Amino acid sequence: MDLGIRGRRAIVNGGSAGMGRSAALALAREGVEVFVSARREDRLVKACAEIAAETGAKVTPICADHSSAEGRERILAACPEPDILVGTCAPPPMTPDYRAITDRQWREAIDISLLSPIEFMRRVLDGMVERKWGRVVNIATVAAKYPGEIRALSGSTRAALVNYTVAVSKIVAPHNVVINNLLPGMHHTATVEELFTARAKAKGITYDDEVAEFVKDWRIASGRFGDADDVGAITAMFCSEFANYITGQSLVIDGGATTSTF
Ligand SMILES: NC(=O)c1ccc[n+]([C@@H]2O[C@H](COP(=O)([O-])OP(=O)(O)OC[C@H]3O[C@@H](n4cnc5c(N)ncnc54)[C@H](OP(=O)(O)O)[C@@H]3O)[C@@H](O)[C@H]2O)c1
Repeated sequence: MDLGIRGRRAIVNGGSAGMGRSAALALAREGVEVFVSARREDRLVKACAEIAAETGAKVTPICADHSSAEGRERILAACPEPDILVGTCAPPPMTPDYRAITDRQWREAIDISLLSPIEFMRRVLDGMVERKWGRVVNIATVAAKYPGEIRALSGSTRAALVNYTVAVSKIVAPHNVVINNLLPGMHHTATVEELFTARAKAKGITYDDEVAEFVKDWRIASGRFGDADDVGAITAMFCSEFANYITGQSLVIDGGATTSTF
């Protein structure tokens, strides 16, 4: 299926690994020129080269911390007029005890997972409105909608982000600019593999066994974690021509872990 976005320009913040990388790849496959940011240069440059080699698309790495003002300037200098903005980051740390969360952790989580995407939207939406076309997708977390103590940092900042995006989506919708959020559950990505490898090691079990325990405890109906591509391809769909009448929505992608009628 042709998503109708060939020749568009996209910023993918946090695109050297995990779901951000998968989103960048899915967009590049559609002929989108992609500008990918991340902090670690070696992994970023490698990811961009691999995506460009596989798709033939132009993929520009931008080594920058998108949660800092300086990083944001660097990203926007490379691509001042994006048609598409995809935002993600590494998952904030899990919080097994809400009392143990430090002020510093709160400030970091707010900077990276709330204020950064807000600032990017403030900077790019006017241009999208003027050009009468724009797509914004924030890859957030299922915990925005279904809170849990272990995701106090990740969920509460994204709940605020979702609230903000819904409000702003109404302002830009008449101009063919849509803003949506994806809310992933548990997926095998760089950070999760690191975290679950450490958890498994501490218990003296394998990575697969640790994942299986989590799947059981959290009642993930699919019986497994997802992978990054379960989110990347859907991101491209929400960035497509076909998404022109979907806005202010948040789609849960969690293998059926959270359930309600609607
Ligand atoms: N994986 C899961 O199971 C899971 C579950 C629920 C929600 N989520 C959410 O899904 C999203 C993606 O998670 P993921 O697991 O795909 O993450 P990941 O594999 O850790 O990848 C995160 C990407 O973002 C980049 N990044 C992180 N902070 C950045 C910053 N300040 N500036 C620029 N780039 C930055 C990382 O590169 P550098 O480190 O080099 O900067 C990397 O490219 C996050 O919002 C997360 O909260 C994930």
